[in-house]
Amino acid sequence: MKWSTRVTEMLNIKYPIIQGGLAHLAYSELAAAVSNAGGLGQITAMSLPNPESLREEIQKVRKLTDKPFGVNFAIGQHGRTFADFLDVAIEESVPVVTMTGGNPKPIFDQLEGTDVKKLVLVAARRQAEKAEELGADAVMVVGQEGGGHLGRDDIGTFVLIPQVVDSVSIPVIASGGIGDGRGLMAALSLGAEGIEMGTRFIATKECVHASKEYKERLIQGNENETVVIKRSIGAPARAIINSWTDKILEIESKGGGYEELKDYISGTANQRYIYDGNVDEGFAWAGQVMGLIKDCPTVQELFDTMIRDAENIRGKWAE
Ligand SMILES: Cc1cc2nc3c(=O)[nH]c(=O)nc-3n(C[C@H](O)[C@H](O)[C@H](O)COP(=O)(O)O)c2cc1C
Repeated sequence: MKWSTRVTEMLNIKYPIIQGGLAHLAYSELAAAVSNAGGLGQITAMSLPNPESLREEIQKVRKLTDKPFGVNFAIGQHGRTFADFLDVAIEESVPVVTMTGGNPKPIFDQLEGTDVKKLVLVAARRQAEKAEELGADAVMVVGQEGGGHLGRDDIGTFVLIPQVVDSVSIPVIASGGIGDGRGLMAALSLGAEGIEMGTRFIATKECVHASKEYKERLIQGNENETVVIKRSIGAPARAIINSWTDKILEIESKGGGYEELKDYISGTANQRYIYDGNVDEGFAWAGQVMGLIKDCPTVQELFDTMIRDAENIRGKWAE
C-alpha cells in the first residue's frame, strides 16, 4: 500500500510519521532508527552542550542512515541562543528544521535562501495561522493529551486538528496522544497529512538514553497517571505523576512563583529521573498515550506493527 501525502513528498520519507523533538533523549541512535524505518527522525539541538557537539551528532546520524532527518529547536526553553546551532545545521545540509516554543521568525530569517524545510510545532489555531503567514512549510499541531510542553488552551487533538486543517493551506501534522496504527489512521481522517509522536518513541530500544525505570513507568502506567505542571508560570507541560510533581503542584497552588519552583522544574531534576532512573527525586515528561504503551520494541518493530494495523483498517474501509 502506498503512503503518499504532501508530508511524505515534501520530506522525502516513506511513511508520514515524525519523531518529535525530545529534549535530552533525541540523539543519533533514535533519529537514525526512525529515519531508517521510513519516518523522519530528529535530534534535539538545544539538549547538546554546544554547536560543535551538534555537528558531531549530525555526523553520527549520517553514519547510521542515508535517509532524511531533522534537527529540532525548542526556542527559549533552555535559556540559550540558537543561532550558532542553526548555523551548524545549515553547514551540515540538514534537510529539515523543526521548532517550537517561541516566535519562529528569527529561525526563518536565518534559513532564508536555503532549501531547508521549516516545520513549526504549535498548540493553537491562531499559532498555526501565524506560522503559515511567516512561511512555514508545514505545521505540527499538538493537542492537550501530549507529553512535554503544551498550549495554554487545553484543547484536545481531535478538536484542534480539523480546525487547523480548515484554517491553513500548508500540510498539518497531528501530534499528541498518538501511539499506534489506529491513531495514525484517525489523524489522517481528521485531515492531517502526517503524525508526530513523542512519548511512544521513548519506550523503544533505540531511545538509549532513557533509563529503564522511565521506560518501565511508560509501559506500566495508565492514562490517568500524567499531570500538567508549570501552568502557574505560563508554561504548561505534561509529566508522569509522582511525589515530585505533587510537590510542584502544591507550590503552584500556594502561589509560589518561579523562584520557589526552579529547583523542582530544573533540567537537573528532569535528568535525575530520565537518565538516573530516580523516579522519586525528579520528573519526566509523558503524554496520556502512556496508557496505550505496553512494550518496548525496536523502532522498526513499532513501525511494522503500526503500518500493519493501519493497513488493516484501510483494508476494512475499502471493503
Ligand atoms: C520527554 C519529552 C520531551 C520533549 N521535548 C521536546 C523538544 O525538545 N522539542 C519539541 O519540539 N517537542 C518536545 N516534546 C514534544 C513532542 O515533540 C511531541 O509534540 C509530543 O510528545 C506529542 O505528544 P505525545 O507525547 O502524546 O506523542 C517533548 C515531549 C516529551 C514527551
